[in-house]
Amino acid sequence: MEKIVSLCRRRGFIFPSSEIYGGLSSCWDYGPLGVELKQNIKQAWWRAVVQERDDIVGLDASILMHPQTWTASGHLQGFVDPLVECKNCHLRWRSEDLTGNNCPSCGGELTEPRLFNLMFKTFMGPIEEAASVVYLRPETAQGIFVNFQNVVNTTRMRLPFGIAQIGKAFRNEITTGNFIFRTREFEQMEIEFFVKPGTDEEWFNYWVEERINWYVKLGIKKENLRLHKHTKEELAHYARVCYDIDYLFPMGWAELEGIANRGDFDLVQHASFSGKSLDYFDEETKEHIIPYIIEPSAGVDRSALAFLCDAYDEQLAEGEIRVILHLHPALAPIKVAVLPLSRREKLVAVAKQIYADLRQCWMVNYDDAQSIGRRYRRQDEIGTPFCVTVDFQSLEDEQVTIRDRETMNQIRLPIAELKSTLQAKLEGEPLFVLPPGGAIWKE
Ligand code: GAP
Repeated sequence: MEKIVSLCRRRGFIFPSSEIYGGLSSCWDYGPLGVELKQNIKQAWWRAVVQERDDIVGLDASILMHPQTWTASGHLQGFVDPLVECKNCHLRWRSEDLTGNNCPSCGGELTEPRLFNLMFKTFMGPIEEAASVVYLRPETAQGIFVNFQNVVNTTRMRLPFGIAQIGKAFRNEITTGNFIFRTREFEQMEIEFFVKPGTDEEWFNYWVEERINWYVKLGIKKENLRLHKHTKEELAHYARVCYDIDYLFPMGWAELEGIANRGDFDLVQHASFSGKSLDYFDEETKEHIIPYIIEPSAGVDRSALAFLCDAYDEQLAEGEIRVILHLHPALAPIKVAVLPLSRREKLVAVAKQIYADLRQCWMVNYDDAQSIGRRYRRQDEIGTPFCVTVDFQSLEDEQVTIRDRETMNQIRLPIAELKSTLQAKLEGEPLFVLPPGGAIWKE
């Protein structure tokens, strides 16, 4: 984990939040490369669950919701962790994280557990009184449930169908740590998939498989993923069945995503507390039913950490350690780097033109500092799939060299075919371009 944290810090993926003031516990800021990585993860998820499907639509609900939401959802009563405090050093711990009866830090005696609600409380409007209390949402899911009827009424969605949302969630976690694994402010990617009761088990199994495949398709090694079924004691108050997709993080196996069968709990609760009907008219059976909900709930930050850990590699090359991020091209923050072999005016003009052209399609770096070997290493370290080298020969033959991050193989091709070749390569096509005509060959 130290290596990942150090790389993230050094290369501008992730910084401690408000660092100039000494940082803020468990809050992190995503730098120029981190923001691209996170954006790409969200885009890949949205593409897989909304864009490429006709049974899921998107939503962007507000973070602040009517306070009754949290009574209905059970969060005000049930979203609690038992907390103990060390009588000696006053550090606080989650009871369930402790193995012994004493403080893990100083060995001191611990207090009896007391329940601590994890929701952040604030006030709406200028008066700080009980009537104006609102909460920062601890999950994005509730914004979907309260909009269920709005979506049914304004779209042609019919069961089974889902609503997907990406957004910030906040939890006043007692135990944080492990970098961006557990933080107090984080982003979730959640699907609430509404199904007819009786088909819920089938859909639950479908989503477990679908979500594992999503991670594998984006490069996570299968052997680093496993399923963990929640025991009765582990189940959240709303869930009938829940599986975690665990990832083998550097600190051990831990939850990456949760997939729950929430039954009709949420729609029944919100209908009861709001007094509004949240049932669904089934055209086939002419019956009013309350759909069951299957919920695949993933964390953006936790996914980013898993993708970084899985991609991190060190190789020995020419007596030096080569750090490389084997990020899937869809996730790589920078897709292509343009590297002129020298800073000579004529060469720079060609390289800058290529840079400007490629930027129309992707995030591209331009790097003319230090030796070409060092520049390749810099790009390997941030996971850039392809480097384009412009040399003096390019001025004569209008060709450039593409270097592949994974194989370090280089091919030369006409500048005119650069964009289409990169496009194909970034989409995973095993294309090969042979000079001088630039005919495209499949490997
Ligand atoms: N709506 C269901 C729900 O929120 P959860 O298992 O509490 O379920 C879902 O959270 C996912 O959100 C987790 O698998 C994790 O990826 C992410 N997550 C939850 N708490 C987090 C935290 N404190 N920091 C970072 N990610 C978190």
